[in-house]
Amino acid sequence: MLNRKQFLKTGLLGTIPLSGLGFSGKKKHVGSKPVVIATWFTALRANEAAWEILGNGGYALDAVEAGVMVEENDPKNMSVGYGGRPDREGNVSLDACIMDERGECGAVVFLQNYKNPISVARKVMEETPHIMLAGKGAQQFAKEQGFEEMDLLTPEAKKAWENWLKTSEYKPVVNIENHDTIGMLALDADGRLCGACTTSGAAWKMHGRVGDSPIIGAGLFVDPEAGGACATGLGEEVVKTAGSALIVEMMRQGHSPEEACKIAVDRIISRNKKAGKSLKNTQVGYLALNKDGAFGAYSIQKGFNYAVYNEDGNRRLDSGFRV
Ligand code: GLY
Repeated sequence: MLNRKQFLKTGLLGTIPLSGLGFSGKKKHVGSKPVVIATWFTALRANEAAWEILGNGGYALDAVEAGVMVEENDPKNMSVGYGGRPDREGNVSLDACIMDERGECGAVVFLQNYKNPISVARKVMEETPHIMLAGKGAQQFAKEQGFEEMDLLTPEAKKAWENWLKTSEYKPVVNIENHDTIGMLALDADGRLCGACTTSGAAWKMHGRVGDSPIIGAGLFVDPEAGGACATGLGEEVVKTAGSALIVEMMRQGHSPEEACKIAVDRIISRNKKAGKSLKNTQVGYLALNKDGAFGAYSIQKGFNYAVYNEDGNRRLDSGFRV
């Protein structure tokens, strides 16, 4: 396990030029490594699993996979993995994607009967010539890779669905049904930045619906030259604005992680304003981690929080918000 002294303060050279500008003329936003950040404070446990790897000098890709699997395996988390709320027909379908420090990626969409879509997504990245497998093809691939098939609908999720059927109203509640995804970004001691994103999607979605979480550039994006970003919340809004790709591009242009997340939130707000649509019942929260280990978050509504583990320990932070 690394001790405090062994932590590498990064970007120190970048602080030397007057005015804090690097050689490129861009402002440096300096953090430390290793570091892991994940959506929602419930990810404190997921961070512990990721830190087991990062704190021992391990690989960020292994860390994000192990981290988000904690939530996929937990039936009490009803928005990710086993025990996730089903679609309106009672089927649990999972979406996930993963990206490594080279910008390589893998994803699965509409995966049924396998509780760890993140590991299947990693196999897609590592074992196939493709980046995404869907539905029956994803299931077949998971089986071929030796993953265990199982029923993902727990008695609690079934009961919640039966209750929902009494009204069958599709009205996601901000920070509850919208509290739907774990996105995780990690920078390891060797400077490798990787990310993972996994979800059972919006509760009571239409059969076959896929949101932002498995879409590279929407739910997750990593560019080794700039940083990584991930999203939680109503996936349709994230996809329409290519949220995570936008954030990474803003960091490349010199914005801090928080500023970049705010720009992406503002993009959703201005797009909806022009379309005359209200965002009263919509939550989207973004996290960003730059290549120097600085991090930030921003959301549309109050109530989005996240978990960070770095040299200062594992802790909950609340994000800034727009309305
Ligand atoms: N953010 C997860 C989803 O909308 O499916």
